Amino acid sequence: MHYLCRLIGYFGSTMKEYTIETKIRSCQFDELTAEQQALVNDAKQMTANSYSPYSRFRVGAAARLSNGVVVKGCNQENAAFPSGLCAERTTLFAANANYPNHAVQSLAIACYTDGHFTSEPGAPCGACRQVMLETEHRFGKPMEVILYGEKEIYVFDSVTSLLPLGFFAEDLHG
Ligand code: THU
Repeated sequence: MHYLCRLIGYFGSTMKEYTIETKIRSCQFDELTAEQQALVNDAKQMTANSYSPYSRFRVGAAARLSNGVVVKGCNQENAAFPSGLCAERTTLFAANANYPNHAVQSLAIACYTDGHFTSEPGAPCGACRQVMLETEHRFGKPMEVILYGEKEIYVFDSVTSLLPLGFFAEDLHG
């Protein structure tokens, strides 16, 4: 009986369905602008400074700000695992701490493991996407995100493409 009810509920449902589209541009390194290439190179270089003795997964990030300054960071691990922090947040928090009045225009990310950069673009974790979204929202300007992969590079014009249906400060007030 319970099963039958569920079946009727399913077919008789007036539930609406939304499809959320997201835009990812895929390209090769030589198709990036000189500015984008420089930022990707900074992110790649920063993987060398990664402190990741536990995962051995090195992530580097570089953020170009509206004043032209490039802030760099990489993942920092800890024996107490949750105390570590991803490269994206290390970088964005450093950028916002040192330059609180300058928007982040572009953020490049690169991952290195097993002796080489990953062939696929490294996907930022959910927590980093949330922080990236708040950074973009805070300055009211789209933040470009460049995910480096040896095989292809993904470019997002805005963090909203990486995290649709995001949670913002306004949501705290219903
Ligand atoms: N990591 C990042 O730095 N960024 C991400 O978005 C994904 C994961 C780091 C955290 C940890 O040090 C290692 O990669 C393995 O998860």
